[in-house]
Amino acid sequence: MTLNAIILAAGQGTRMRSSLPKVLHPILGRPMISYAVEAVAGLSDDLPVVVVGHGAEAVCRAVGQSARFVTQERQLGTAHAVKSAAPALRGKCDLVLVTSADMPLLTPETLAHLVQAQEGGPGPLAILTVVDEDSHGFGRVIRDGQGKVREIVEEAHATPEQRAIHELNAGVYCFAADWLWEALEQVPVSPKGEYYLTDVIGLAVKQGLPVKALTADDPCEAIGVNTRVHLAEAGRIMRQRINTAWMLAGVTLIDPQTTYIEPGVVLGQDTVIWPNSYLHGKTEVGAECEIGPNTILRDTKTGSRCKILASVLEGALLEDGVSMGPFCHLRKGAHLANGVHMGNFGEVKDSYLGPGTKMGHFSYIGNATIGADVNIGAGTITCNYDGKHKHPTEIGDGVFVGSDTMLVAPVKLGEGSKTGAGSVVTHDVPDHTLVVGVPARPLRKLESGE
Ligand code: UD1
Ligand code: CA
Repeated sequence: MTLNAIILAAGQGTRMRSSLPKVLHPILGRPMISYAVEAVAGLSDDLPVVVVGHGAEAVCRAVGQSARFVTQERQLGTAHAVKSAAPALRGKCDLVLVTSADMPLLTPETLAHLVQAQEGGPGPLAILTVVDEDSHGFGRVIRDGQGKVREIVEEAHATPEQRAIHELNAGVYCFAADWLWEALEQVPVSPKGEYYLTDVIGLAVKQGLPVKALTADDPCEAIGVNTRVHLAEAGRIMRQRINTAWMLAGVTLIDPQTTYIEPGVVLGQDTVIWPNSYLHGKTEVGAECEIGPNTILRDTKTGSRCKILASVLEGALLEDGVSMGPFCHLRKGAHLANGVHMGNFGEVKDSYLGPGTKMGHFSYIGNATIGADVNIGAGTITCNYDGKHKHPTEIGDGVFVGSDTMLVAPVKLGEGSKTGAGSVVTHDVPDHTLVVGVPARPLRKLESGE
């Protein structure tokens, strides 16, 4: 059977009190709606249809190529929203799966079960329910004496007895497509002036058709984000899921509660992550590393056995056995080769530091290419910016840069050269030469091994 998915995303999300459309609020670094799109992706060969309305343009831009879009001009309710996808889907599929963009915790597995329940049953639809003490304002599932689903009553319209029911409508449905398009024509307008998708359940019952209800094992999956309180709750649960998966995959999280790992991150076995660490974007950490405490990695790749203490790394690349911190800042294009050591208060941007190079204290390195086994003395600065342009610095293998050296770029320090403490280097330094002073002048040639 062919299936298409519809994701409802046209509502305003008034209760978020935000100028950003609700479904674009990020959870773990991604817009909320991207989770709904991902959850249905494996169930159909076609792209899902996202129903947009409020903030349509921004929502389309954020989702991009991974969905098709239809516009619901006025938000007249969930049945009306599904109906606006009819021109795109009518006659094109056997089954229609309907979910909402504000349900980021739904798993592909649960959705697949719901589809199977519909495929295997005789009725026109299957609905997902959850049993939860906290109603979250959800519609109540009303069953008859024999336990058959009779209708769904919205909380606002429920009697006190109905409100006491703990089985709730998750707002996820799988329909026989032909039946759905017909049924939508018959949905009455509610006392609130909206067309409720939930009313098609009563309609099926009236037609004498069975409604299948599948209860989700984990009620968390049905959490719908309506307020920023729910947003935080959903973020916490998603973080917990990700952290648990990494611990089971062989990564130690000293304190999962304060470890923030985004979904696109990859971690190697036997890596240890200390508290209050944040791994964002396309970060990849190798095996047997120690990260944190108090560390932020964004779009950063590390090899194995790296140690990063209390530092911020963005768009950086570290080879094996690099150690740094506390209080280092690596920015875009920082590439540290095997065994590089950075102590406290170092900043590196758009630069390569060769194998074994050491930079212990208080330095800024920008637009530099540095060879192997270089010692960068305390307080060394590449003066790479003249107020208009950035200029490169080149440092050869085995160079010893004295403390407090200013390297006024563009400038080159030849292989095995040395600078005296406090020198300001404005001209290239030949290989194996000691320069000192302001501006730095060659003092003498260095003996080998000096
Ligand atoms: C809906 C269900 C309720 C269920 C709950 C679960 C109805 C009438 N009620 O209530 O039984 O327990 O979901 O979360 O369906 N939307 C549109 N266009 C509209 C209206 C809504 O696209 O005209 C979208 C919203 O953006 C949202 C989704 O549909 O993504 C659900 O709408 P919402 O208003 O949040 O419905 P609930 O009141 O939560
Ligand atoms: Ca909702």
